[in-house]
Amino acid sequence: MTLKDRKDFPPIAGVIGWPIGHSRSPLMHNHWLAEAGIEGRYVALGIPPEDLEGELKVLIKKGFRGLNVTIPHKSAVRAAMDRLDEAARIIGAVNTIIIEPDGSLEGRNTDAAGFIENLAQARTEWRARSALVLGAGGAARAVVYGLARAGVEEIVIANRTRARAEAIAADLAGLGARVLVAEWETIRERMKGASLLVNTTSLGMTGAPPLTLDLTPLPADALVTDIVYAPLETELLAAARARGLETVDGLGMLIHQARFAFEAWFGTRPAASAELRDALVEDLKRTEKTKG
Ligand code: ATR
Repeated sequence: MTLKDRKDFPPIAGVIGWPIGHSRSPLMHNHWLAEAGIEGRYVALGIPPEDLEGELKVLIKKGFRGLNVTIPHKSAVRAAMDRLDEAARIIGAVNTIIIEPDGSLEGRNTDAAGFIENLAQARTEWRARSALVLGAGGAARAVVYGLARAGVEEIVIANRTRARAEAIAADLAGLGARVLVAEWETIRERMKGASLLVNTTSLGMTGAPPLTLDLTPLPADALVTDIVYAPLETELLAAARARGLETVDGLGMLIHQARFAFEAWFGTRPAASAELRDALVEDLKRTEKTKG
């Protein structure tokens, strides 16, 4: 009998990364465990790349029910999975591991669903005509997959390094959406037909240069979203608001990807409450201060 089968052993889950830094996942999952009255625990675990395989085995033995996966393990961890869901397979990254009672591992990606849920919660009628996605890193892959699966007809990817955008377009071509690549310098022209603008680059993040764009060409009903959530209002979102455009910040994506992971492990989908969001905003403010 594994520890997990023992009724007196509290369910335990966690997040693995290196360095683990200040992960917000423990705050969210422990909040939901308490809210659901589940006597469990969610912990942050720093695991260097060379120890990943071995440490995973240890965590399985310890009776972990599941794990979130963050930088730099999201791609590497796939090799240890017994199964991958479609999102993890196509995006090429796992952010959620389900550890079955027999010790087998299912890798999922809830980032894409989290991104789409964030838009849907903010605006039920978000327009799914044409999206302009800035950036072509791992986050962009999840965003493009999510948009394609949500039925967006045309997705244009603009990235400083064109080859990375082309790789995403090639890998995600079979999902029904038209995935095109545009030069980084042509973003302004590409805005004209975009009903959704998404920043997936690291520009605008605390400590990084801002993403300064002239948003004039965007249609008046375009939605602008940033997956950066520190700061909560990036220069991009501020510029969009100043232009009278509707905006969605990146904190919701973090919360919603976590809701789907929690549900996979504990069987109940927790709420994205204002109380939790406030706690996260407070936490963001605190770490901003300690950085300053
Ligand atoms: P993640 O996996 O979190 O998406 P990443 O793979 O490091 O992170 O990707 C970062 C993204 O931000 C990339 O699209 C990167 O562009 P390149 O592919 O050309 O590197 C983009 N980015 C970072 N700094 C940038 C800058 N100064 N100007 C334009 N794009 C930038």
